[in-house]
Formats: sequence, structure tokens, C-alpha cells
Amino acid sequence: MKHTLAQELLVSLTANTPSISPKFFYDDVGSHLFDVITLLEEYYPTRTEKWIMDTYRHEIADAVAHCDVLVDLGAGNCAKGSQLFNSIAPKQYRALDISKKYLEAAVADLQKQFPQIKMSAHAIDLSLPLAFPELQALRKVFFYPGSSIGNFDPEKADQFFMNLAHECHGNGGLLIGVDLVKDTETLRLAYNDSLGVTAAFNLNSLLNVNRLVGSNFELQDWEHYAFYNASQSRIEMHLRARSDVQVILPGNGSEDHLISFKAGDLIHTENSYKYTQENFVEKLRHTGFTEIHCWTDPNQHFLVCFANS
Ligand code: AVI
Repeated sequence: MKHTLAQELLVSLTANTPSISPKFFYDDVGSHLFDVITLLEEYYPTRTEKWIMDTYRHEIADAVAHCDVLVDLGAGNCAKGSQLFNSIAPKQYRALDISKKYLEAAVADLQKQFPQIKMSAHAIDLSLPLAFPELQALRKVFFYPGSSIGNFDPEKADQFFMNLAHECHGNGGLLIGVDLVKDTETLRLAYNDSLGVTAAFNLNSLLNVNRLVGSNFELQDWEHYAFYNASQSRIEMHLRARSDVQVILPGNGSEDHLISFKAGDLIHTENSYKYTQENFVEKLRHTGFTEIHCWTDPNQHFLVCFANS
């Protein structure tokens, strides 16, 4: 594991555009920092999505119509999924997340509150293809809130949607939240908050990498850098070297690797794509979804869609 991660990092850090995968954000500290981000004034997506889900819960339930299994993709603490239990009344709840630790405890807790819903927890990496052969005959509603789809490159998002549409087997749907294109300043502030929580979230990935592979990144050598790239419709997050930096990546049995960065060099850590309602609906349509319902907030900052397949 350590060896594979070190190899992966060696490749990504020595590429023409050095990068660290966003999966390195989410250790214990990073997961808590992300929870704090969702509470920040500048980070509008979480509260805006909640407003849409609460305000239109009856319309959303009507569009969903019937749900045998609610499949919560990236369930985390299951808070968002469980908010749907009363309105869409699933018979089963299947919670998926990359981190098993929190998921199992959250599902066990929920099961006590909703004994009538059959629940299960599954540690799954959403970047790999999903398959639910045992649920084929049931009407599944895939739930993917929080604009997590924005962290996929557009081609990867298409593959993900095609995979989900296929898994609906003509009797299912997708309930999804996505962040919309808007004025650059609102977007910039959402990823450059005044308390510096997003900066800490970004920098923490270096500590996590050090812990996982034994490298020696020093926090004081790096700064948070996030901006809106309008031509790509995405926020880009980077770590920028404050001075010339040399980092040692242990070779685990073979020679250690020395990676050099010049002052101002960037390590790309995340993309967060923003969509217009039109191009997101088109994306759902061309990947196999139909009857697409949309809800948004008065400022049109965020979009929730339900689509059948
Ligand atoms: C998880 N994801 C939808 C967040 C986003 O907005 O792209 C991750 C994040 N990165 C910085 N702030 C929040």
C-alpha cells in the first residue's frame, strides 16, 4: 500500500504539471476541515443545496415517484441521505463511501431510528465502475449531492453517468446536486475563505502524504492558491512553492527520490467544475437519462436534478 502510493506520488509529482490527487485531502483532519468548510459563509453550495432540497421536497418526491432502494453515493455521515427518508420513503438504503470507518457507525445509528428501512454500508471507490446485479429488478434512486460530480473531469463524469444509467436497468433514476457557473468573485471567495479553512484543507494534503509515504513536505514552504479558470469552467486548487524547495520521497528499499520545485511552482490538487443548467441537462441526456426535472435557488447558484433512466 505504502509502496504503491509512493509510486503514484512519484509519477504525479514529477509530471509536467505536478499534482497530488484530491483523495489525499480526506484523512481524519481533512474530513473534519471539509465539514467546517461546508459551514462557512463564503461556501454557499452546501446551504444552498439544502435550501433547494427542503423547499422542493414534495416536488422532488413526486418526480422520484417510487423508490425501492436509495443508493447514497458518497454517503459520509448519511445526513443528506437520511433527510430524504420521510419524503421518498425508500424500502432499502444502501450507503456507499470510500471511508468505511464513519459509514458503518452512521448506518448503525440510522438503522435504530428507521427500523422499517433495510440498510447496508459499503466501502466503495466511486472512481471504479459500479455494479449492483442483486438490485437489478428493483427501482433504484442514485443520490449524489454536494456537487461532488464537479470534482470529476467532464469525460469521467460522462462515464460515471453512463455507468449509473446502465445500472438503472430502465427502472431507476439519479437525484444529483451540482454547482452552477456564476460571477467569478463569488466562486473565488468560496475557495479562498477569510478564516483560511480551505487553505488548511489544501495544505493538510501534504501532511497526509508525509504520513502515508514518509516524505518531508514542510508546510511553511507552501501556500494555498485557488482561482476560477473561466475557459475550463472550473475552480483550480494548487499548492504554490514559497521558495525553492526540495522534497524527499522515500524509495522503500530502493533509492530515495529527490524532487525539486522552484519558487512559484505549482502542485495541482483539485478541480471543481461548474456547469450551466443547460449543459448539465444536456450531459444527463446524452449519457442515458430522460425526463429531467430541475430545481434551483433564487440566485441560481446551485442546481438539483432528478432524471429517470
Ligand atoms: C467535495 N467537493 C464538492 C468540494 C468542492 O467544492 O469541489 C471540495 C472542496 N474543495 C475546496 N472546498 C471544497
